Amino acid sequence: MNILVIGSGAREHALAWKLRQSPQVSQLFVAPGNAGTAAIATNLPLSTSDLPALASAAQEHKIDLAVVGPEAPLAAGIVDLFQEQGIPVFGPTQAATRIESSKVFAKELMLKYNIPCARGEVFDSYPEARAYLQKHPLPVVVKADGLAAGKGVTVANTKEEALEALSSAMERRAFGTAGDRVIIEECLIGREVSLLAFADGETVAPMVPACDYKRALDADQGPNTGGMGGYSPPRFFHKNLAMEVQERILVPAVRALAREGSPYRGVLYAGLMVTKDGPQVLEFNARFGDPETQVILPRLKTDLVEILVAVVEGKLHGVKIGWHEEACVGVVMASGGYPASYETGHPISGLDTVDEDTMVFHAGTKIDPSGQVVTDGGRVLTVAALGQTISQARKKVYANVPRIHFPRCHYRGDIAALEED
Ligand code: AMP
Ligand code: GLY
Repeated sequence: MNILVIGSGAREHALAWKLRQSPQVSQLFVAPGNAGTAAIATNLPLSTSDLPALASAAQEHKIDLAVVGPEAPLAAGIVDLFQEQGIPVFGPTQAATRIESSKVFAKELMLKYNIPCARGEVFDSYPEARAYLQKHPLPVVVKADGLAAGKGVTVANTKEEALEALSSAMERRAFGTAGDRVIIEECLIGREVSLLAFADGETVAPMVPACDYKRALDADQGPNTGGMGGYSPPRFFHKNLAMEVQERILVPAVRALAREGSPYRGVLYAGLMVTKDGPQVLEFNARFGDPETQVILPRLKTDLVEILVAVVEGKLHGVKIGWHEEACVGVVMASGGYPASYETGHPISGLDTVDEDTMVFHAGTKIDPSGQVVTDGGRVLTVAALGQTISQARKKVYANVPRIHFPRCHYRGDIAALEED
C-alpha cells in the first residue's frame, strides 16, 4: 500500500514511524513532514490547508490510504474531498468533525444524549453572556465555540479574568468567527486524562489512556502550550473507569453522531475530567492527540495499517487490538520563548547519541541546505521511551534528553513525576 500522512508535527512523525513498521506499506509519504519524517518517508512540500493540492498529490502517488493528523484540514472538509475523489482516507467528515470544531455542537449533542459533561450555557449575545457571567460562581470556564488554536478556553479564577476572556472572544473578536458564540460553564474539579478511541461509525475501540501537560513550565506554571509532554498509562485510570468512559461517553457519542446523520469514522479523542461524580467530558477532538500519540503508539502491538483500513471500511469489529504492558513517557523539547516568540534555524546536535530504544519524534525541524537538522518551530522534538514502569520509562527519557542540544532549548523536568512509584 502507498500511504500518505498529512501534517508536520511529532504526532505525524509517530504515525509515520508506526506505519513504516507494517509489512503492508510500500511507499510512505508525509505532507509536509519534517526532518524526522524525511528519514523514513518521502516528504511532499504541501500546505495542510491546500486541500486540492493534497488530493492531486494523493492521485499522483496512487495513495491507498491517507491519514489526516491535524484538525484544521478535517474541519475544512479534506475527508469529504478525498472521498469524492475515491481516495481512501482515515478521519471524520467535515460534519462529524463538528464534535471538535464547534464546542456548541458538541455541548448540545452531549446534553441531548445524556453524555456527562460540565453544566453550561451557550450565548450568541455579548450583553447576555456578560450578565450571566456576572452572577456565575467562581471559578468559571469561558469557551469560544470554534477552533482557536488551543487558545479559546479560559479557566477563570476571578471575575475580571472571566470578563476579559469573554470580551476578547465576543467583543474584540480575537478568534474571529470562532468567538461568535461562547459557552460559559462550571469548572470541574478532578484529574484530567485523555482517552482516544478508534471508531468506524459503529464499533468503538478505545486505546490506552494518556495524560498530557499543557503548561510551559514545571509544576504547571506558565502559559498554555500545544503540549510539553505526556505519559501512558496514568495509574489512577483503572480498568473500571475505562469501561465507564466507553459505555457512558465514547459509545453514546458515536451512536449519537450516527443518529444525527454524521457517522463518525476516525479517532475520537475524549478529554476527560475524572470528578468525584465520575468521568465528565471537557472536550472532544476529532483526531489523534499531540503529544498523546507519541506515548500511545509505542505501546501499540497491532499493525496500525490493519486498524486504520478496518476503520475506513467499517470493519473494526473484526480487529483485535493489542497493547504492550510497558509504560511510555514523552518529553517535548521546545524552543526558548515558546509559546510566545522564539528563534528558529538553530542546529540540533546529539540526535545520533540517544539510545537505540529511545524514540525521537520530530516536530518543528527541517534540514537546511548544508544537510544539518535545524529547529523550525516552537515544539521541536518529542523524546519518548518505554519502561517496565512509569519510573523506568521516565528515567530512560530524562537520561536521553540532555544528549540532544540546540541553543535556548527548553523542556519540563517533571513529566510523569507524579506517577513515580
Ligand atoms: P479544551 O480546549 O476544551 O480541552 O480546554 C482546555 C483545557 O481547559 C482543558 O484541558 C482543561 O484543563 C481546561 N478545562 C476545559 N473545560 C473545563 C471545565 N469545565 N472545568 C475545568 N477545566 C476545564
Ligand atoms: N493534547 C491535546 C490535543 O491534542 O488537543
